[in-house]
Amino acid sequence: KTGYITIDEGFKNTGSTTSGITYLDGEEGILHYRGYPIEELAEKAEFLEVAYLLIYGELPTKEQYEVFKHEVTTRSLVNEDMRKIFDGFPVNAHPMGVMSSLVGAMSSFYPDNDKKHKGDFTEVHIRRLLAKIPTIATWCYKKSQGHPINYPKNHLDYCSNFLHMMFALPVENYEVDPIVSSALNKLLILHADHEQNCSTSTVRLVGSSKANIYASISAGISALWGPLHGGANQEVIEMLEAIKEDGGDVAKYIAMAKDKNSTFRLMGFGHRVYKNFDPRAKIIKKAADDVLAKLGVNDPVLEIAKGLEEAALKDEYFVSRKLYPNVDFYSGIIYRALGIPTNMFTVMFAIGRLPGWIAQWLELRKSGQAIGRPRQIYTGPTKKHYVDIDQR
Ligand code: SDX
Repeated sequence: KTGYITIDEGFKNTGSTTSGITYLDGEEGILHYRGYPIEELAEKAEFLEVAYLLIYGELPTKEQYEVFKHEVTTRSLVNEDMRKIFDGFPVNAHPMGVMSSLVGAMSSFYPDNDKKHKGDFTEVHIRRLLAKIPTIATWCYKKSQGHPINYPKNHLDYCSNFLHMMFALPVENYEVDPIVSSALNKLLILHADHEQNCSTSTVRLVGSSKANIYASISAGISALWGPLHGGANQEVIEMLEAIKEDGGDVAKYIAMAKDKNSTFRLMGFGHRVYKNFDPRAKIIKKAADDVLAKLGVNDPVLEIAKGLEEAALKDEYFVSRKLYPNVDFYSGIIYRALGIPTNMFTVMFAIGRLPGWIAQWLELRKSGQAIGRPRQIYTGPTKKHYVDIDQR
């Protein structure tokens, strides 16, 4: 007998671990990475600097940061044989399916026993993941456009390198717009970690079986893909587009979201932890105004998004359930203004969340936590006996 077991559906009231990485206060709308408020980091830091902070626990000194950047930048090439796997995907393959497959395949291309490196391979694998995931992500976009892929350029910073690989064409010169790389830098920082969310818990659970880091991150990418999680940023834009096509009737869609008989859900709204505003959504909403103005982009769905937020925040159904815009509600509007296609939005979330997944995986492995293995309450049939097939 195992004593009594309580079921906590969706782990709404279950803590899976202690952690010193990210602090959330859902009531106050507070989010800190290793003690630093995201408002300051989003304003002042570089994404790789925040990656270092999350993974190693403190902001890097200038020297530490230069070494870290060099070690990541010089690993941005991907083994050319991985292109053979990539080339096998259909042109309309969803990039999240490609990413989870290729990141899983990295464990075959970058095993622990390669001769070039000695000592703990984890540090090398961390740099490979940070360096190669953006490169692989851009392959998906280039293939969808029928364009040749771009190789990384080591003189570019992390965000500029990604944008160059995404948008440069061999037929013309491509200069990264600093407004665009700065907006991307801010978005990646805001997505970098979020304590024990669904995909991070997945990374930790897979890591708890001592599976390698590539297998663990690949599992995290798969979990993030779901429309209730990271996939919501793509769903939000598709929802806003549908509302725009339908005449922009915000009240109609607010009513549908409240209607128990309707399957329509206001995507980008609500959060398991934030029962007040999501601090990231606040920053992204302001950034959307700034970036679109600077780029001279006038996207009608931004006004529709604001109209939905305004209507919902005055509506008892949303207020009583403490439903506010979350990180996914405005992010897609900026990604679109940067030229990133809708089906790559969740890939952008994964690129941003990667340092958090790595930091949480490392914390789990260093803690020596037991393998994650929850119990259940059995509700199936009582004991039965085999019946020959011709008696069934
Ligand atoms: C992310 O966990 C994290 O930290 C995640 C994340 C991260 O950084 O890792 O923040 C990133 O995933 C953000 C969330 C993205 N998902 C969406 O935007 C999808 C739409 N939102 C929901 O499906 C929902 O709000 C969740 C999934 C985010 C939270 O789900 P919960 O906590 O299980 O809440 P619930 O589904 O039980 O909803 C509680 C009530 C229900 O009504 P009642 O049954 O009590 O009458 O609120 C309603 C729900 O029907 N509700 C909504 C709604 N979200 C919840 N009603 C209309 N529209 C919505 N969006």
